[in-house]
Amino acid sequence: MTAFAPVYALHVLAALVWVGGMFFAWMILRPAAVTALEAPARLKLWSEVFRRFFVWVWAAVVVLPVTGIGMLQLSFNGVAGAPRYVQVMMGLYVAMLALFLRVQALQLPELRRAIEASDWPAGGAVLGRIRRTVGSNLLLGLALVAIVAARPHW
Ligand code: HEM
Repeated sequence: MTAFAPVYALHVLAALVWVGGMFFAWMILRPAAVTALEAPARLKLWSEVFRRFFVWVWAAVVVLPVTGIGMLQLSFNGVAGAPRYVQVMMGLYVAMLALFLRVQALQLPELRRAIEASDWPAGGAVLGRIRRTVGSNLLLGLALVAIVAARPHW
């Protein structure tokens, strides 16, 4: 086994955790929470979900570029030798990171403040904005994985 294999596996696992987590949150948990919970419980649930999930997203956010650049050093003659699909991957990574940081640094604190003040309408409005941001990030993540996975057949 070459050094490339474990680095590659870690890279794909990090992508799986981040994109798969967003898929589950958006497609499964969100509609289930709307059906089963009233606004106060729903907002508290999401605050707890984000707190736990974002620990893993932070790990993915670090692991992806480190392993990605590691693979470029090992097999592609460094970052300058990155093929077009890897350049696309790096660009989409930056966009995904920006959207994640927006939720983490701006929207999540707003959600927590609304919950502490028991201001459920304001909390619902922030949660709606978080939903849109995560939805965009999910689309970017799915597109990224599809583009990279399809590359041998272009
Ligand atoms: C700075 C950021 C990134 C760099 C430098 C990078 C680099 C790379 C490299 C060099 C490969 C191996 C390509 C090959 O073997 O031909 C790869 C594969 C892959 N990357 Fe990234 N990547 C980055 C970010 C991401 C992100 C954000 C995701 C998804 C969320 C992602 C998902 C994948 C997947 C799924 C593969 C495997 C594709 C396959 O073999 O079918 N990468 N990446």
